[in-house]
Amino acid sequence: MPSRYFPARPPESRVPSPESRSLRLAVLASGRGSNLQALLDAAPTSGYVIAGVFSDRANAPALERARAVGVPAIAIDPKAHATREDFDAALFDAVDAVAPDLVVCAGYLRILTHAAVARYAGRIVNIHPSLLPKYPGLRTHARALADGEAAHGASVHYVIPALDAGPIIAQARVPILAGETPTILAERVLAREHPLLVACVRLLAAGRILQRGSAVLVDSRPLAAPLLLGADDQLHDPAHVA
Ligand code: GRF
Repeated sequence: MPSRYFPARPPESRVPSPESRSLRLAVLASGRGSNLQALLDAAPTSGYVIAGVFSDRANAPALERARAVGVPAIAIDPKAHATREDFDAALFDAVDAVAPDLVVCAGYLRILTHAAVARYAGRIVNIHPSLLPKYPGLRTHARALADGEAAHGASVHYVIPALDAGPIIAQARVPILAGETPTILAERVLAREHPLLVACVRLLAAGRILQRGSAVLVDSRPLAAPLLLGADDQLHDPAHVA
């Protein structure tokens, strides 16, 4: 799928300039952490480093994945804080301490407070398992199946103080197959989430994507529609496909 904006370019071919430095990521994750693992695996060739992983659950497997490769991993207990605001303040004090350029919510299951989002406005993204704006919230796969959708998928979007809203950077589409169950559909979508998230963070690390209000700028131009993940695991601009 050729594209004017995204000529296929293996990351290895990028020659960093002497003054360039890796984008520092803080990753928020509540559970399994397979999206975190995809980011960890791709980091050496992708222009970013994972500076810290943060969770609201001390037993989240995501924390173990980080520790296994020497990445600082911190859990903050929501029950130790009187209010959501207090919890988010503590969480984001810990996030601030690793001085991230970008916060990535990768399976983080709590809704962020306005104050937390404001601290990282324009520098916080989320991955959600649906083709937003369809199916914000939970049980997205079952809901898409129940509605008889032809396709489902995943979205990476900037976070704003509303659930699973915010300007959409890119999506991966997954056709729904006859007789599919929510569990199988979720597995097939998850398999596309990993390259989607890595491709988005690579572009963010290269400084090619910015949020401007409700718009996403790619190479300084507003996107008319979300970028699409191709079969080549590269992002393509559907408005500019040749
Ligand atoms: C993913 O489906 C993600 O889109 C959603 O939560 C799930 C997390 O999976 N927000 P994992 O923890 O990354 O394996």
